[in-house]
Amino acid sequence: MTTPLRSIEELDLEGRRLFLRVDFNVPLENVPGEGPRITDDTRIRAALPTIELAISRGARVVLASHLGRPDGERVEALSLEPVAVRLAELLSTGEVLLTDDCVGDGARKVVGDLRDGQVALLENLRFHAEEEENSTAFAQQLARLADAYVDDAFGAAHRAHASVAALPGLIDERAAGLLMIRELDVLDRLRDHPDHPFVAVVGGAKVSGKLGVLEALMERVDSLLVGGAMANTFLAARGLDVGKSRVEQDKLALARSLMQRAQESGVDLLLPIDVRVGTRLEASEGEVVSVDAIPSGAMALDIGPATVELFAQRIRTAGSVFWNGPMGLFENPTFAEGSLGVATAMAQAPGFTVVGGGDSVAAVCQAGLEAKFDHVSTGGGASLEYLEGHKLPGVEALRR
Ligand code: 3PG
Repeated sequence: MTTPLRSIEELDLEGRRLFLRVDFNVPLENVPGEGPRITDDTRIRAALPTIELAISRGARVVLASHLGRPDGERVEALSLEPVAVRLAELLSTGEVLLTDDCVGDGARKVVGDLRDGQVALLENLRFHAEEEENSTAFAQQLARLADAYVDDAFGAAHRAHASVAALPGLIDERAAGLLMIRELDVLDRLRDHPDHPFVAVVGGAKVSGKLGVLEALMERVDSLLVGGAMANTFLAARGLDVGKSRVEQDKLALARSLMQRAQESGVDLLLPIDVRVGTRLEASEGEVVSVDAIPSGAMALDIGPATVELFAQRIRTAGSVFWNGPMGLFENPTFAEGSLGVATAMAQAPGFTVVGGGDSVAAVCQAGLEAKFDHVSTGGGASLEYLEGHKLPGVEALRR
């Protein structure tokens, strides 16, 4: 039997230094003359209930996160400074102290001077290669900043990195944050006792990247709706000519065997019936064609309106719907309608609706529909790995 997780609510936090691992790995854009700017603060807002709880319980809050992939180097463009500024705007206390580094004298001084209810944010953990190496020595340095440990970084729970894997083992008082608990509850429901019909909508670029989850979902879902560039590989495997569309030639046999398995296990695997094609990724115009009439010089870059309607019918009558991966080249507005159509159908669906993954979540937020979903997951990779049945290192470390 697995050990149940403790919740932050069970910890005595008054006057104690709480190391709170969060996932503040937010998308940034560089504004000339201004520096990096956060384009989506969802992950920061999602951690607020846990941080506010810690503040209200009188903890001395030490937040830690990674940002981007600086590969163990100090990269100023990946400093957590813009995050500290945004977080201070959102917090009731209005104040966040950013340390110059996540370990060392500077960090110890800032943390040592914290008063009850004050919040510090450690600089990017990945400025040290030891973080991704899951180094015990590095975790020991982090442990010097903590009396208790809480992990609320669901988005990073699938990474066996020092701050989520080695560190909790060094601190007796450890628990999951409110976001972590909510994410796991939702995914447990989908994985172990979903309301049927259970419909999964899977998109994105590659079949190869989603193979594990496609196989795992096949065991559980009633309908599997496939869109995005990965649908091209399935269409090609069915013998259709998809023109210049992106196809993983080495995955055609695999796509055929997945379709065969779906048939044998009674899973309704739906592929696009029409697509929006363009001649270039940057095209500002697209043409809707049937999947058996894709022009030889064109690429399928989004699902078409008839497919949106086909998928929407399944979504509307589902007991549960899980969506991961965009239906087309969402970043180009010409090819965003398929993803927005799925987002709208899910927002109107009476069943239990969950979306995870950067681009699909972005589509939901762009349409202003996030409040209409039962759950918008902050973890793309983590939610897929969990649904596949993998144990997440960051969750297991809390149980031990
Ligand atoms: C994510 O954005 O999926 C998490 O923050 C993990 O980031 P990573 O893929 O760089 O490990």
